[in-house]
Amino acid sequence: MTESLSVRVFADRSDACRTLAAEVASLVRRINDSGRPAVLGLATGRTPLPFYAELIRLHREGELSFSKVITFNLDEYLGLPGTHPESYRAFMQRELFAQVDILPENVHIPDGMVAGEALEGHCGAYEEAIRAAGGIDFQLLGIGRTGHIGFNEPGSPRQSRTRMVELDPVTRQDAAPSFGGLEQVPTHAISMGCGTILEARKIALLAWGAGKAAIVREALTGPISDQVSASFLQEHPDATFYLDAEAGSAL
Ligand code: F6R
Repeated sequence: MTESLSVRVFADRSDACRTLAAEVASLVRRINDSGRPAVLGLATGRTPLPFYAELIRLHREGELSFSKVITFNLDEYLGLPGTHPESYRAFMQRELFAQVDILPENVHIPDGMVAGEALEGHCGAYEEAIRAAGGIDFQLLGIGRTGHIGFNEPGSPRQSRTRMVELDPVTRQDAAPSFGGLEQVPTHAISMGCGTILEARKIALLAWGAGKAAIVREALTGPISDQVSASFLQEHPDATFYLDAEAGSAL
């Protein structure tokens, strides 16, 4: 493990999310005070839910405005329109965007309905939009049981960029309950690449529960390898794991 990758273990996920949300709110205020929008990279899935609830609370209490925030989501399922309840666009709208003052034009999520020849151009345009926004100030991550960040499954190169990816069987299995069965889970997605994620200036990876303990340990203390894309964070100058006691129990 390199010295720059830090680990913070909290009694529970609420503690972790309160701490991180306060830090992100202060980062957004600092960047906005310097005269520019703050650029946040966002994640979906079960893990960030209590974090988004905390951001919404700070917003309601007048401590955090999203009026000068630009967001880029990590990924989207291929083949799902934004109106599908399991699409990440619908997830973000429901769990965060509809409840804060973000401008719709500042929200970026890959389009799960692009197909065929349009796909490469769409992914290139996503990368270009991140660059045009000045790069990502803060990137939020979860971790899959395969060690993925975004949907960078085992074998995703360190330099990979936004592209179409095939979901690992383990990842599809984990998603099956919310889709009402494995056969309903998309086989592919569009995901920011490892290289895209690692360019974020500050990164927080969240993990809760005993089910994540083994892969968290592997990511933090195992070899840096494309077999566990979260292990690339060991080389990032400002990445922190925020864990509850169970997720940190194998360290
Ligand atoms: C979500 C994403 C994934 C999830 C990971 C963990 O945008 O890119 O990497 O963070 O699959 O999912 P949960 O939080 O549901 O355990």
